[in-house]
Amino acid sequence: MESRTFAKKNNMRLSNPFVITNDYVSAKYFCDREFETKVLMDNISNGRNSVLISPRRMGKSGLIGHVFAQDQIREKYRLFHVDLYSTSSLAEMVFLLGRAVTDSLKSDSRKGLEGFLSVVKSMRPGFKVDPVTGQFVFDLSMGEITRPKDSLDEIFAYLNNTDKPCVVAIDEFQQIAEYPEKNVIAQIRTHVQKCLNARFIFSGSKRRMMERLFNNPSEPFYLSCVSLFLNPIDRDRYRSFACGLFAEAGKTLDGSCFDDIYSRMEGHTWYVQRVLNEVFARTEQGGAAGVEMVPETISYIIRLESRAYEELFAGFSQTQKRLLIAIAREGKASGITSSAFVKKHALKTPSTVQSAARVLYEYETITKTGNQYSVTNRFFSLWLKERFG
Ligand SMILES: Nc1ncnc2c1ncn2[C@@H]1O[C@H](COP(=O)(O)OP(=O)(O)O)[C@@H](O)[C@H]1O
Ligand SMILES: [Mg+2]
Repeated sequence: MESRTFAKKNNMRLSNPFVITNDYVSAKYFCDREFETKVLMDNISNGRNSVLISPRRMGKSGLIGHVFAQDQIREKYRLFHVDLYSTSSLAEMVFLLGRAVTDSLKSDSRKGLEGFLSVVKSMRPGFKVDPVTGQFVFDLSMGEITRPKDSLDEIFAYLNNTDKPCVVAIDEFQQIAEYPEKNVIAQIRTHVQKCLNARFIFSGSKRRMMERLFNNPSEPFYLSCVSLFLNPIDRDRYRSFACGLFAEAGKTLDGSCFDDIYSRMEGHTWYVQRVLNEVFARTEQGGAAGVEMVPETISYIIRLESRAYEELFAGFSQTQKRLLIAIAREGKASGITSSAFVKKHALKTPSTVQSAARVLYEYETITKTGNQYSVTNRFFSLWLKERFG
């Protein structure tokens, strides 16, 4: 957050231009996505809600940040962004929504916050006055959210009555399907339909789940939104972006070096960024990054993470471990429950493979594209291959 505000306000340079944290920094460090940005902006200005789907770490949250940073959007709308990834109940979601609203009102006059306070009665205990500054602060603890459904109603009532229209981005939306409370999706759907003052962006990384929520006629979100799938950034555009950022720092990135990184990481944004970040760090000013640096740089990144991978791996069952290794070996594995696959990788039976795959998919340890499985984390996949392959 800090670095974002700083970079935007002062137009300052980051010491390493390849951002690998979750926060959107500024247009300068953000590659392409022109088409997707335009689609989302058009949806907003034409009163449509959007659904944004991609595997994790492809750039959904970054894209939302980028759309929210556009002048036409910032000036016209109140913007709220919540990421539900770590939530597991309606109370936690309400907590984050409340926090997003108060964060965005913070820079405003006291009147804005008081307006919110007068609507969200159920969360009032969370508002405290800072003894030093005399300002309101939202210091709610989870235990204080005792009536989450009422709080949700109140937050939507607030969103429907703000001075400017709102855009609300709900990131990793599929998480709601895991909440123990019944009918949360239906409640949100009703609110969204009634809330004419706000446009919504629902983003999610579990494609099948998102499609079920939004495209299934028996599910309440059917046909209410326009869907957008986020693919890897175009290779040529990414290359000129990366080479440009090297050049600006007085360094050279060989096109062949970039291409090798892009193809090893299959264009998956965060992984490409992570390697570029490391290659940039290893290149002296005036120096050039060549293709020969790539394997050693990737090995180094994997070494840094190897303890974490070891612990992660230790937590899986025998069959899950074997299946992970098998998928990592193949890179992209299809027909994992076929007897040929089971035999080739010394797995037990197709049905044990199937249930292991279900669990690994639930945890997002493996990803499914079409009928092919791969290990979601590309570095973890390489570690598995190196270690057991
Ligand atoms: N267009 C882009 N240009 C450069 N870096 C990006 C771009 N989109 C995302 N990133 C970076 O890639 C990483 C993953 O992006 P993120 O938006 O968090 O993915 P997601 O929300 O899909 O999981 C972040 O570190 C982010 O800064
Ligand atoms: Mg995200």
